[in-house]
Amino acid sequence: MGKYLEAIRKELDYAYEVEMPKIDEWTKIDIQHIIGKILVRIIGKMIVGNPVCRSDEWLDLGFTEDFVSASILMRLLPTWMHPIFTNIIPQRWRLRKGIKTVRKIISPAVTRHQEANKKRAQGMEVDEEDSMLNWILDNADEEAISTNLAQMVLVMFVPAAHTTAMAISNVLFDLCAHPEWAKGLQDEITNANKEFGLIGEKLPVKDWTSQLELLDSFFNESQRLSQPISITPNRYAYENVTFKDGLTIPKGALIGFVAIHNQIDPEIAPNPEVFDPMRSYRRRHSSPDEKDKHLAGQPSKENFAFGYGSQACPGRNYAIAVIKMVLSRMLLDYEFKFVEGHTKPTKYHLMEFIIPDPTAKLMMRRRKVA
Ligand code: HEM
Repeated sequence: MGKYLEAIRKELDYAYEVEMPKIDEWTKIDIQHIIGKILVRIIGKMIVGNPVCRSDEWLDLGFTEDFVSASILMRLLPTWMHPIFTNIIPQRWRLRKGIKTVRKIISPAVTRHQEANKKRAQGMEVDEEDSMLNWILDNADEEAISTNLAQMVLVMFVPAAHTTAMAISNVLFDLCAHPEWAKGLQDEITNANKEFGLIGEKLPVKDWTSQLELLDSFFNESQRLSQPISITPNRYAYENVTFKDGLTIPKGALIGFVAIHNQIDPEIAPNPEVFDPMRSYRRRHSSPDEKDKHLAGQPSKENFAFGYGSQACPGRNYAIAVIKMVLSRMLLDYEFKFVEGHTKPTKYHLMEFIIPDPTAKLMMRRRKVA
């Protein structure tokens, strides 16, 4: 994890420079688009490495939107119609094109890694950056690599970039709705910079971002009220399961937990309608036994936002570190507020997916620090 986070940290310097507008006066911006671009770059760095993650083809893939909308469309249709519609809907054409594009752009990286491995086998030292693509090449079986490498890359990319970008946008929307928290979060980041240097300078990314307890708690509250998937975890019964009380889940059944219900249950979150960003901070500090619980990214029976159990989101610790890494820069460098007359964007429910209004804009300017 450490080496991938370090790669992300370095790419963030570049992505931030390229994507963040340099604006000193209040300007209306499409914050979701900007953060989305940054995330495609930095998650791309972790998955496929540089130069692929900086290529126009990678940046313009737009795969996630088509992936989600195709899955929604197909599920609205009866299964017997799938073979017909799979060839008709434009999202599926674009997905196929996306797979072809990824196959083409990762091909030089695959060759480079194979050559590096050959040199290593001959005892030579090779200076090669790590990526998840290299990990797949070294660990997946040959048949899977020859038939499905591009799909494997995309299956990692789809859940990673978009959800994390949306989480960052949601934190900014919540901060605009509750601007009184901005100073506390900024002070915490400034103190971490003073005590531990900039991210990754003296402390590895994971340890540095762990220092941001207020931001951790703020994110938890933001995610409680704006989680991206309403029904999770989802499981498929491979065999009949009978519980002690006689309830039987038949083989082949799909089971989904209504995760958003947990988030509004007063037994789990008292006064659930109140945005209370220090909820988990207070719980953690309520007794020494609670100190390591209630952290962002920790699945529990109270928080299903990252799923639960052995199949809970494997990227959750990356997500939290990345969210803090990006926000710790943005909150120090910029100020945000809603466009005059606007409040927190409407949430749209598309089957189990929940997204903030994609057209929502924010006002932003560079912070004037005395
Ligand atoms: C805020 C950001 C994220 C959220 C809210 C999120 C949420 C989830 C949820 C709810 C699941 C299903 C878990 C279950 O069934 O128990 C999941 C699965 C998954 N996530 Fe994430 N995720 C995020 C970021 C990431 C990142 C950054 C990565 C990769 C680095 C990632 C990779 C995956 C993968 C590969 C799976 C499928 C695991 C499996 O089927 O075994 N996710 N995620």
